[in-house]
Amino acid sequence: MTNFTSTETTPRLLVVATGNPGKVVEMQEYLTDLNLQLELKPKDLEIEETGETFLANACLKASEVAKATEKWAIADDSGLAVDALDGRPGIYSARYAPTVAEQIERVLRELADNPNRQAQFVCALAIARPDGTIVLKTEGICRGEILYSPRGNGGFGYDPIFYVPSEEKTFAEMSPEMKRSLSHRGEAFKILLPQIKAMCG
Ligand code: IMP
Repeated sequence: MTNFTSTETTPRLLVVATGNPGKVVEMQEYLTDLNLQLELKPKDLEIEETGETFLANACLKASEVAKATEKWAIADDSGLAVDALDGRPGIYSARYAPTVAEQIERVLRELADNPNRQAQFVCALAIARPDGTIVLKTEGICRGEILYSPRGNGGFGYDPIFYVPSEEKTFAEMSPEMKRSLSHRGEAFKILLPQIKAMCG
């Protein structure tokens, strides 16, 4: 973790390194009690995710967007890592197959009847200064199990096959509040929030 030393340039606005307005709304919910304005990155600014880890990709996106906009930037990178598949789909979660249904099918096909169903969702978050320097970075994890078939209608992506034993529910069966409180993204923001607060003064 990079230590943040307070300077005159503490952020009031963060550019979110995503083209997805839903992600900005979601981040706003995690950062609700902070006096921070969030905005989408410019549409024509595309960052190639060339990193080999979630954290490397989050840092890359935050840094490149910060430099291009000359503003503070925040980025996340997340995905599903299945133990018995050596961590796949991992950083390729969004690209594992053309559609979400096919992504789920591929994971279930590759796992087949392997009794080891252990898996985790991972979310990396990074914040960069306008010069591209990463000042905060962290990773949140949520452990669970891959079911043999999908369950539930909520959420997105791999949610219907990701089962959390302590709640006896898949992510797709949880309320948005419950998922937020225990998800990988929730965990990452729980770690980062006090640090962002300290940084914003
Ligand atoms: P990104 O970090 O927004 O690019 O997301 C990467 C991919 O990981 C998504 O497209 C989903 O396939 C998967 N993913 C990340 N977080 C979740 C989640 O909370 N539920 C289900 N799938 C997720």
